[in-house]
Amino acid sequence: MKKFIITANWKLHGNNVLVCHFINKLKSYFDTNQIFSKIIFAPPVIYINNIKNQIQHNNFFIGAQNVDIHFSGAFTGEISIDMLKDIGVTYIIIGHSERRIFHHENNEYIAKKFQMIKSKNLIPILCVGENLQEKNLKQSELICRNQIDAILQLQEEDIFQNSIIAYEPIWAIGTGQTADIKHVNRIHKFIKCYIADNSNIKLKDIIIQYGGSVNFNNIQNFINSEHINGVLLGTASLSFETFINIIHNIDQYCY
Ligand code: PGA
Repeated sequence: MKKFIITANWKLHGNNVLVCHFINKLKSYFDTNQIFSKIIFAPPVIYINNIKNQIQHNNFFIGAQNVDIHFSGAFTGEISIDMLKDIGVTYIIIGHSERRIFHHENNEYIAKKFQMIKSKNLIPILCVGENLQEKNLKQSELICRNQIDAILQLQEEDIFQNSIIAYEPIWAIGTGQTADIKHVNRIHKFIKCYIADNSNIKLKDIIIQYGGSVNFNNIQNFINSEHINGVLLGTASLSFETFINIIHNIDQYCY
């Protein structure tokens, strides 16, 4: 299996004690084990500096969970792409369903962020996915297509180069109900074909992670699947033992 990408999204969790615990444990794990997968660690932004300064590893990258839609200006409380870049962020998660729902971010707003992140040479991780009602109405492909269309409408042929997509069905996030592997593979294949047909990126270069209740017990389902290039972990990334067991498991199959 080629490089598998594991993103850890801590959301609004953690504190100094947990951060220090992870730093110490990750350092000693990296000292004693070879890492073949790529790890993108996205803690709350306030902890990034500390983690970035203490962990240096070729396959360990820092992600941010969000960014503002302006490059700078009078926007109290916001954080810009350049500020994230300053502290060593490489990847930025956008379009997560929690931001779409709780912060009313729509497809166009997310597409704008996508474009801005690309313009600063950082890598967007674009989350897409349907809710339960849409799934039951067999609209999974339609919803993902609409979310992808907003990016394609930017009319930049290269737009999906150097980006990651995370398919995260909303009904699977934090519910313990992981999506069925056949469903995930079907949607990933659909998204890849749709993007390859409508832009100039080759299908084999499109990277799609799956997210939604991935844990140690079900990670095996997502390894070695043709169209699944990684996983996005929420809950499972908050326990060091679970997190590292997942990485260890994946690394058995990476080269
Ligand atoms: P979960 O979260 O792993 O807790 O389901 C995934 C996500 O929201 O990214």
